[in-house]
Amino acid sequence: MSEPLAPPPYVRAPSVGFLGSLPVDRVLARYDLAGSVAHVEMLGRAGLLAPAEVGALVAGLRRLGREVAAGTFPWRDELEDVHTNLESRLTELVGPVGGKLHTARSRNDQVALDERLYLRAAVRDLARRLLDLGSALLARAREERSTPMPGYTHVQRAQPVSVGHWLLAHFWRFERDLDRLRATAARANVSPLGAGALAGSTLPVDPRSVAERLGFDRAFHNSMDAVSDRDYFAELLFDLSLLAVHASALGEEVVLFATKEFGFLERTAALGSGSSLMPQKRNPDVAELLRGKTGRVIGDLVALLTTLKGLPLTYDRDLQEDKWPVLDAVATLTGVLDAAAELVRGLAFVPERLGAAACDPELFATDLAEMLVARGMPFRSAHAAVGSVYSPPSRPTGETLGAALGLSVEVIAEGLDPAHALARRASAGGPAPIEVARQITAAEASLAAGRDFLSSLDRQAELIEELLSEEQR
Ligand code: ARG
Repeated sequence: MSEPLAPPPYVRAPSVGFLGSLPVDRVLARYDLAGSVAHVEMLGRAGLLAPAEVGALVAGLRRLGREVAAGTFPWRDELEDVHTNLESRLTELVGPVGGKLHTARSRNDQVALDERLYLRAAVRDLARRLLDLGSALLARAREERSTPMPGYTHVQRAQPVSVGHWLLAHFWRFERDLDRLRATAARANVSPLGAGALAGSTLPVDPRSVAERLGFDRAFHNSMDAVSDRDYFAELLFDLSLLAVHASALGEEVVLFATKEFGFLERTAALGSGSSLMPQKRNPDVAELLRGKTGRVIGDLVALLTTLKGLPLTYDRDLQEDKWPVLDAVATLTGVLDAAAELVRGLAFVPERLGAAACDPELFATDLAEMLVARGMPFRSAHAAVGSVYSPPSRPTGETLGAALGLSVEVIAEGLDPAHALARRASAGGPAPIEVARQITAAEASLAAGRDFLSSLDRQAELIEELLSEEQR
């Protein structure tokens, strides 16, 4: 019989055993070490460690940081998780004083701390990429501000818009995604360290100073909540799911627009690859994968919510399963955002096809009805009058429209002209180039605010680096 299938790399290594989480939580090592440095310093201030002990422990922790960064850290699968690995290696290096590291701390508040620090770093990575995607959409929207295209409802030609307006519609979705990540990171920026296993400590610890040292806004209010709360990961996974849904909608439209049927987009190499069988094929694989990756990310959200559902307070080992879905979703979205930005930069619009589609008289039916309204006709009557000229099988022309609606040839000609039609749609937030220009200004301001948010995350990241570097106290 055949060999059993080798486990894919994201499945727990058998050597780690059923209880272990090392293959996943290894990524938390830097945050775990930075948290330990802050914890040790606090124990020193509280008089629970002598200055020399603080010095030895901090130096040891920083050395571990260098080992982890260099890839030389001797990970031991049998030690279950990242926390135990780091503590036992520390004791190996610094001797019995290593046994004081875990004073007034539990892996329960420790892992929650590591996860919140990881979340900050993940949001930073994703925010940088979202800003890049936003800039790409905005740059293309500037170029295509006045390029008419049909706008669709029910995938039926509906009313005229511009390519710029279409691109900006996608921009605003991603803008809200960034805002959601900002809110999630803000709510998550609370330190759980000092909650202990679930009920704090009898020792004179000071969670507030640790929180401050690590760049948190504050420390927890309730020790039981602090060790069991995983809202931050659930929120992050929802944010990433919706972000993936938005990327999938962009991907779907690119797939459609690159068909021969639409023909709005050149089937360039930027969209994907050829078929291994059909020599004529140029498939929009990149856009399809923007759609395709979404299912797994939504699955990650559902997996975490299912793990959390009905868990009694406080820490339960089920919580160890919270990390897989988050790491998977973060890695997936990193790729999705990079690919989406590249795709947007590479979109090659086909002006002739867009132009021809944008001249379809059907797109201007509402405009003609509104012209009658402007001349005093009730909207319902105008709707009926225009509707009767457009009703199949008749194909309206300038003449039939003019005759039926009592409008001059010039007025009809203007009514059916895409450039005029765009300019007419100058209501707030509409597709008129003048309104799109206003949108672009608003979008620029929003990107600037996003960059400020990113700088605040940069500063938080620097704090972590500082805690692990020898250069300071
Ligand atoms: N590896 C564990 C996790 O990821 C760390 C916390 C373990 N706590 C415990 N009480 N066993 O959740």
